[in-house]
Amino acid sequence: PRESVETLVNRLSETVRDYPQPGVVFRDLTPVFADGEALHAVVHALIDPFQGQFDAVAGVEARGFLLSAAAAYASGTGVVTVRKKGKLPRKTISEDYTLEYGTATLEIHADDLLPGSRVLILDDVLATGGTLGAACRLFERAGVQVAGFGVVLELSALRGRSALAGHRIRSLVRE
Ligand code: PRP
Ligand code: ADE
Repeated sequence: PRESVETLVNRLSETVRDYPQPGVVFRDLTPVFADGEALHAVVHALIDPFQGQFDAVAGVEARGFLLSAAAAYASGTGVVTVRKKGKLPRKTISEDYTLEYGTATLEIHADDLLPGSRVLILDDVLATGGTLGAACRLFERAGVQVAGFGVVLELSALRGRSALAGHRIRSLVRE
């Protein structure tokens, strides 16, 4: 029988202690994306529960870009980027946030998506939820409805789900 998406992620992902700073147990999903069968399974598992409920997919820099482009292509929608500060050339909206290992600022273009449209936001890991919370605020300030969040791995102990209350979250593996 075919391996489940959860088994694929558990088998292929790596764990790196004390990266990017002492005390952090970093979960590296890049080997999951490097595997054709796993990438296909992950992308479909993330979009299937939201089928018909989104008009575009957004990916959070940097690993979220990989998932979002593949997911948009697989679902026939467009893709937009949620970027770290200073990378976008036109009029932006910004949100500061805290994540497991620091603080940062995310931006979108003010006109990336039409007001009233629905966006599915994807990333590789949900940890504290700081990153996806900031992405959510950006789209809501632009008048875009957040259809939900999809992540490959949810680090449950960091309680990201409570930071994103009120929205649907699909996580493929929880640990
Ligand atoms: C990681 C990960 C998520 C975020 C999750 O990205 O890819 O985007 O942290 O953490 P949180 O739930 O505590 O906010 P990182 O900021 O390290 O950026 P990168 O993808 O550019 O390396
Ligand atoms: N983002 C925030 N915390 C993380 C972790 N422990 N592993 C991978 N990405 C993360």
